Amino acid sequence: MAERIRKALSQGWRYTKTDREVYKNRDWPDHDWSLVNLPHSNEELPHSDFHPDEFRFVSWYRRSIRLQEPLMGKRLHLLFEGAMSTCDVYVNGHWVGQHLGGYTPFRMDITDYLDESAKNVIAIRLDSKKQLEVPPEGNRVDYLLFGGLYRQVYLEWVEPVHLTDVWVQTKAVDVVQAVLQVQCTTQNDGLKEQEALIQLEVAGVTQENAIFLTPGAEEPILFTVQLDRPQLWDLDAPQLYKANVRLVHETQIKDTLSVSFGIRTVEIAENGLVLNGRLHKLRGLNRHQMFPYVGGAAPDRLQRRDAFILKKELGLNYVRTSHYPQDPAFLAACDEIGLLVFEEIPGWQHIGDEKWQSVALQHLEEMIRRDRNHPAIFMWGVRINESSDHHDFYERTNQLAHALDPTRKTAGVRNFQQSEFLEDVFTYNDFSMQALPAVQRTQLITEFLGHMYPTKSYDPEARLVQHALYHAQIVDQVHGRDDLIGSSGWCAFDYNTNLDFGSGNSICFHGVMDIYRHPKFAANFYKSQRSLEEGPVLEIATYLTSASPEHALLITPPVDPEHYDHHAYHFTIWIFSNVSEVELWHNGHLLGRKNPDDVSFPHLPHAPFRFDIPAYETDGHLRAVGYVAGQALLSHEVYTPSGFDSLSLEADDHQLLASGADMTRVTVTARGRHGERLPYANRPVVFEISGPGELIGENPCPMEGGRATLYIRSQRSLGLIRVQAKSGKYEATPLSLQVVADPEETMPLYEEEI
Ligand code: GAL
Repeated sequence: MAERIRKALSQGWRYTKTDREVYKNRDWPDHDWSLVNLPHSNEELPHSDFHPDEFRFVSWYRRSIRLQEPLMGKRLHLLFEGAMSTCDVYVNGHWVGQHLGGYTPFRMDITDYLDESAKNVIAIRLDSKKQLEVPPEGNRVDYLLFGGLYRQVYLEWVEPVHLTDVWVQTKAVDVVQAVLQVQCTTQNDGLKEQEALIQLEVAGVTQENAIFLTPGAEEPILFTVQLDRPQLWDLDAPQLYKANVRLVHETQIKDTLSVSFGIRTVEIAENGLVLNGRLHKLRGLNRHQMFPYVGGAAPDRLQRRDAFILKKELGLNYVRTSHYPQDPAFLAACDEIGLLVFEEIPGWQHIGDEKWQSVALQHLEEMIRRDRNHPAIFMWGVRINESSDHHDFYERTNQLAHALDPTRKTAGVRNFQQSEFLEDVFTYNDFSMQALPAVQRTQLITEFLGHMYPTKSYDPEARLVQHALYHAQIVDQVHGRDDLIGSSGWCAFDYNTNLDFGSGNSICFHGVMDIYRHPKFAANFYKSQRSLEEGPVLEIATYLTSASPEHALLITPPVDPEHYDHHAYHFTIWIFSNVSEVELWHNGHLLGRKNPDDVSFPHLPHAPFRFDIPAYETDGHLRAVGYVAGQALLSHEVYTPSGFDSLSLEADDHQLLASGADMTRVTVTARGRHGERLPYANRPVVFEISGPGELIGENPCPMEGGRATLYIRSQRSLGLIRVQAKSGKYEATPLSLQVVADPEETMPLYEEEI
C-alpha cells in the first residue's frame, strides 16, 4: 500500500539573520546558527514601541533530512502554508523555485535534487524586506508584514500519479436529499499514460470511476453524489462531512486525500444573508492575524482561540479576514464553530504595475484553491482593500474568482461610493459614524469606526464607554436597515502597524479587544448581542470611580464642561446584557428594575440597559441582576477599585503540546480587596519560569489596565512548566502547565538519526 505520507517539518531548523549565497550549499556549517521550530517569527519584538524596520531583513533557514526509506519512485513535495515574503527554496545547493507573497501556500517538488542515501539539506532564503513588487506592498500599508517561516511546512511523499485536489460543491439541497458534485484532480508526473481508479467515499456512500492520466497533465474527474437526509452546516449546528478519495492503480492504493466540507445554501439578500433559508443580519468585525511579540507566527492553538473569541466572546456571526488570507487553522476553526468568513486577497489601497497585478491574480488563485471547501467562507474579496477603480484588473479578478468557484459571490472593499461596480456584492467602508444609505443592491458595510475613535484598554472609563456606545449605535442602525446585508466594525483586536498609522507607537488601538485579546467595554457590547441560548451575558460598563460621571460629558444631551456640577447631575450607567430585565443595586439600595433601552437602540437584538445615578455617589458597589421570564438568571458586581491587594496569575490552557512552538497566554491581574481588577494599575510585573517552556514577551512586563500579559511557549520535552509572577511585594499563586506529547506526525530531527 502506498498511501500519501505527510510529515510536519516543523522542528530543528537552523536559523540565521544574515544573508550569504553560500548558505544554500549542502555542506555549509550551520551548527552555530540558532535552532528554531515552526511557526517562527524572524524577530521577536516588544508588543509596542519598536521600529517597523526591525524585522525587515533577509534570513536563512536550513533543515537537514535523511530519507528513512528509499523513494522507490515516489516524489517528495515540500508544502509551505505561508512564508513572509519572498521565499527561495534550495535543495542540496540547487535552486528549486521562488514564491512571492507571505499569505498564500505553495508546493515544490524537490525529488530531482535529493540524494537518497545521504544527508539532504533544504535551505530557504527568506526575504522579509519591503517588496514593492508584491501585494500588499508598493505603498504605505496600515499593518505590519512580520517576517519568518511563520506558518507550517510539510513534507509529502506521493506517487508520480497522485491526487492534487478534491473540491466538493453542493448542487442542490433540501431536507430529503443533497446533490453534491465532487471534483477530484489528479496529476501524472510519470512518463507513461496510466489508467487508474478514483474511489470516493462520503458519509458511507461510495463511488468509483476510471481515469486515463496523460503524462504531465492535471486532470479533473467529476462525481455526483446523492446524500439522503443531509445535515446542514449552520451557525448553531456546524455539521461537517468528509470526502475521502483514493487513487487506485492495479489494485494498489497509490494516493489518498481527505477534505472536510459542509452542506449549506447561501443567498445574499438586500437585508441580510440567507443561510439554509434563514435570514441573518451579518454582525461582524475585522480580524488581523497579528499577536504581540511573535507577529504572525502564532501556533494553531492561538489561531483557533481567535475563532472561539469572535464567535463566543464577541457573539459575532461573521468575520472579515482583513486584508489577506489567514491561517488554515483559523479557517478550520470557523468551520467547526459556525462563524461565517469573508476572505480577501492581500492588498491595501495600492495597485501596482502589470507584474504586481499578475502576482495579485496568483494570490487570488492560491486563496480560492486552498479555501473553497470551507463552508464558513461565503464570499471572496477580489479587490485590493480601498483601492481606486481599475476596470481591466478588476474584470480579471472577478472572472478568475467566478471561474475557480462559481458557487460564491465576489465583493471588493472600497472607501468611496461612486465606484465602478464589477462584483456581485458592493462592500463599503463607512466611516461617517452612521450607516449611510446603500448605493447598490446588494451592499455590506465592511468597516466602520476604527480611526474615528481609537481607544486603548487603559483609557479613562468615559472613553471606553463612548467607544462601546458608538459601536452599539452603528450596529443598531445596521440592524434596522433593509438596504444592508450587515456590517463588520473596525476591528476585533488592536494590531501592530507602521509609525505613520495608529498611535505612532507601532500599535493601532482600534480593537474592541486589546492586542492580547483582553476585552474593552465595546467587546462586552458585542458579546451581549449573542442569543440567550449561547449563554446569558450581563456586564456593567463602569469602574465606579470619581471619573465615572464624565460619561455625562459624552453622552447626549451634552453637558457644558465649564458648568459641570457633580451635585446637579446624574451619570448614566450602561449595562450590556441579553436578558429581558435588569435590576440594579447601588450600595445596597435598589435603583430600579428596567427593560432594555429600545428607545435609544430600537433595532439591536439586545439593547443596552440604562440607569442614572447621582453623579456624586460614585464610590462603593454595584450589583446587577439579570432576569428572564421573571426569573433571576445571573448577576454582575462592580466594586470601586480599592488599594492594591493581590495579584492573580492565570493561563488560558493547562496543557501544551511538546512541539517546541505551542503557546498559551498568561495574564497577571492587579486586584483590589474584593477581587476586582484595578483598571488604572500600571506596575511592572516580573515573571519566572522553570521546566520545559519559555516566556515570550517583555519581562519585566508593564501592566496595561491592571494586567500584564505574556505567552508561554513549550519546548520539545515533556514535563511540568511552573510560572511565578511578582510585582513589588505582591506575589501571585504560581501556576503549572503540563507539556504533553504532540500527536502530529513530524519529520525526525536529522541529528537524532546519526
Ligand atoms: C481603513 C482601512 C483599514 C484600517 C482602518 C483604520 O481605511 O481599510 O485597514 O486602516 O481604515 O480605521
